[in-house]
Amino acid sequence: MRKHIVAGNWKMNLTFTEADELLDELMSELEKVELPRDEQVIVCPPFPYIEMASDYANDSYFLVGAQNVSDKEKGAYTGEVSAEMLESCEIDYCIVGHSERRAYYGETDATVAAKVNQLLAHGLKPIVCVGEVLEEREANRQFDVVKTQVEGGLFHLDAEQIKQVIIAYEPVWAIGTGKTATADQAQEMHAHIRSLLAGKYGQEVADEISILYGGSCKPSNAKELFANPDVDGGLIGGASLKAADFMGIITAF
Ligand code: PGA
Repeated sequence: MRKHIVAGNWKMNLTFTEADELLDELMSELEKVELPRDEQVIVCPPFPYIEMASDYANDSYFLVGAQNVSDKEKGAYTGEVSAEMLESCEIDYCIVGHSERRAYYGETDATVAAKVNQLLAHGLKPIVCVGEVLEEREANRQFDVVKTQVEGGLFHLDAEQIKQVIIAYEPVWAIGTGKTATADQAQEMHAHIRSLLAGKYGQEVADEISILYGGSCKPSNAKELFANPDVDGGLIGGASLKAADFMGIITAF
């Protein structure tokens, strides 16, 4: 069955020393708890701290993910980081299509698809973000918007490939705003995404794919969100920057 996953997206935060302290604290907190066997913790630091995070990571505690990857294989693309590089640093996951990448860096569903292909070709698992903006929800277009993103970013994959993908539903109006989707809103959208997957790949494949919720998830609301049958965990921004808050979410299952 699919995994429960709590992934921390640090975004562009923390200095080297602060990152070191957070990893150290997280490590010692994780040592104190016994997580269910089907739960996976992932930490996605900025690139310069990836190696440090990998040194801290121990498969029994957490795995490391990147926040971005190039859509190109290799070569003269100054400033880019390839999937092959991440593979060679033994990174297991990478976030793709985050709404901040879509809004500020022109990432489209076609870019998402190209990045997903790069990651899968190098054995990494993509964490693909989808989600509507406020105006789209107010116009009741959220289900269509997410359908277009899921189809455009992922539906070129075959059944074996899609099973490597984690999907994160992140309503843009909930990211960093303190406004969380209600448990019902999250469940409704997660069920919609799973039914899209079932329609394309069959129910059995759809049931294997973890769908995470993201957007102002915190210790106080994680339990209620994660209690839904189609919410398999969270992609956590702000609350992943404090070990105590992140632990409060990790232990919410
Ligand atoms: P937030 O961010 O938890 O700070 O709302 C979530 C995300 O953008 O992944």
